[in-house]
Amino acid sequence: MCGIIAVLAERNVTDILLAGLYRLEYRGYDSAGLAVLTARQRLRCIKRTGKVANLERALEKKTLTGQIGIAHTRWATHGAVTTENAHPHHSNDSISVVHNGIIENDAVLRKELIAAHYQFASDTDSEVIGHLIHYYLRQQSESGTDTNLFTAVNQCIERLKGAYAFVVISTKHPRQIIGVRKGSPLVLGNGINELYLASDVQALRQVTDRFTYLEEDDVIHIKGDAYTITNPHEQDLQRPVVHISTDDGASGKGNFRHYMVKEIFEQPSAIRATLQKRISDRQLSLPTPDNALNDLLEQVRHIHIVSCGTSYHAGLVARHWLEELSDYPCTVEIASEYRYRPYSLQEGTLLLLVSQSGETADTLACLRDSKKKDYLSRIVVCNVAESSMAREADILLLTNAGPEFGVASTKAFTSQLIVLLLLVVNLVRNQHFPAKKERALIKDLQRLPQLLERILQLDETIQNMAHGLRDTNNALFVGRGMYYPIALEGALKMKEISYIHAEAFPAGELKHGPLALVEPTMPVIALMPNNRLRDKMRSNLREIMARGGHLYIFSDRKSKISGDNICELVLPTTHEILLPILYTIPLQLLAYHVAVLKGTDIDQPRNLAKSVTVE
Ligand code: M6R
Repeated sequence: MCGIIAVLAERNVTDILLAGLYRLEYRGYDSAGLAVLTARQRLRCIKRTGKVANLERALEKKTLTGQIGIAHTRWATHGAVTTENAHPHHSNDSISVVHNGIIENDAVLRKELIAAHYQFASDTDSEVIGHLIHYYLRQQSESGTDTNLFTAVNQCIERLKGAYAFVVISTKHPRQIIGVRKGSPLVLGNGINELYLASDVQALRQVTDRFTYLEEDDVIHIKGDAYTITNPHEQDLQRPVVHISTDDGASGKGNFRHYMVKEIFEQPSAIRATLQKRISDRQLSLPTPDNALNDLLEQVRHIHIVSCGTSYHAGLVARHWLEELSDYPCTVEIASEYRYRPYSLQEGTLLLLVSQSGETADTLACLRDSKKKDYLSRIVVCNVAESSMAREADILLLTNAGPEFGVASTKAFTSQLIVLLLLVVNLVRNQHFPAKKERALIKDLQRLPQLLERILQLDETIQNMAHGLRDTNNALFVGRGMYYPIALEGALKMKEISYIHAEAFPAGELKHGPLALVEPTMPVIALMPNNRLRDKMRSNLREIMARGGHLYIFSDRKSKISGDNICELVLPTTHEILLPILYTIPLQLLAYHVAVLKGTDIDQPRNLAKSVTVE
């Protein structure tokens, strides 16, 4: 969370910084700020609360010019959303810092720095960084040596606890930028006579296609047109320059009003792309270098799936698939819990991490912590090939959904399901999965994108359904079996973008408490395909109807239920295993249309960010 960008060039850098901030806005959009070092070595800074557009408007009124600068878009952790708390943060008008992550020992450092007569202008943890660097520079100068920004930054790092990335510039050290990566991503962009640092490559796509990824604990020191990367022992490191030519192209909204709805409609093509080269008429495969995956799968005995949010829901569906098709023991865990929970690790345990961004702090921490443990292997299912998780995985399985900009994950989720399904099938084949069964699944999988296109044509009907939900404050989502995770996902979409309090339950669980909430003003959104739990589900829905609950049912021709107070959408059907993917789409659209009616900020809902890089 929070986006960082820095530029050293031989031209004014404000436009580059601003364009980068717009591209980083998905990481946080509470406030934004930008500082440049002028030709006369003065720091000039503008900060605004709200979106980057507010900062741009401010810059139209007050021009900043400089050939070196840093900028930031914030997702508040320490301190409210105010201009004072927005980055960059300064120390004594000579140091300017932008920071992403959390400094865990900021209270102790703040106390020390106040005792050393530093004045704090914000409530952020970030401000200690600038003051600490200034403090060490002051010590250097008092001891009569030339001040060295690099040394001061390293001294500062030794004092900081937490996971973070930061970038610093100094009036006394013109044409230098220092960047630190310790838990949060940072990438170097190599331009023509220009160097850039940013939280991700997207921020720099408009200026370069050559990047160097910093690794954990790297410090990069840019000086003029050269740079060095060092480890914590200040030894020089070589990091490769990679060429990333494909632009994200998808960055526009096209004819759609929001990224979210564009991405919902992109699902058929995202699934086609994810299946490409992995599906033939006879077999589903997941090719990996040196056939590493197939060799590994034979040794798997247990599976731990670890992820957060929507990706966690994908993991829950995968567990149902595994249980349906095999008897592999599988647990699905929320990363922020898993990382701190003692658990016993059995021989042959595969760690399967699922993440759209590949940067989610808790999931990434589980991956890193797992290296100290005896897992059979770590597989990452991820949508961003250059992300930290993708690069640190033993085996990477990419979802090819294309960049997802809406904070609400949609096409990434259904693409994750596709990769997870392929993995499940490849795993299950080691136990027993008759070729005939696989061919039947393949046939329906090949037709799935077309089927999703048919569901998307129901958009207008779903839009009409949404009117019934626009004025509600609460909603319940229910499903059974593999539709319970889909209900969870539907509720998450609803609360995330429409701000309606939505919760999901396994339908059979209602009478153990949640049924007390059911009354005529409580909408209940139910998933009821024609499967072996259909009659059980029907009884659960009858209990809701008996209490006057207002039902919104997604069913098919054979599971259709009628009655008063029911708004029902009949969906087409397909292979039982694929149906959860299909039932996801109307829930995404429902949440979207309710949010449109409520006029919320759909692509950047309040308090959230696309990439959750703090724990
Ligand atoms: O990038 P990841 O898949 O690791 O992100 C995990 C969650 O933060 C994410 O799925 C979040 O729940 C979505 N905004 C939900 O739409």
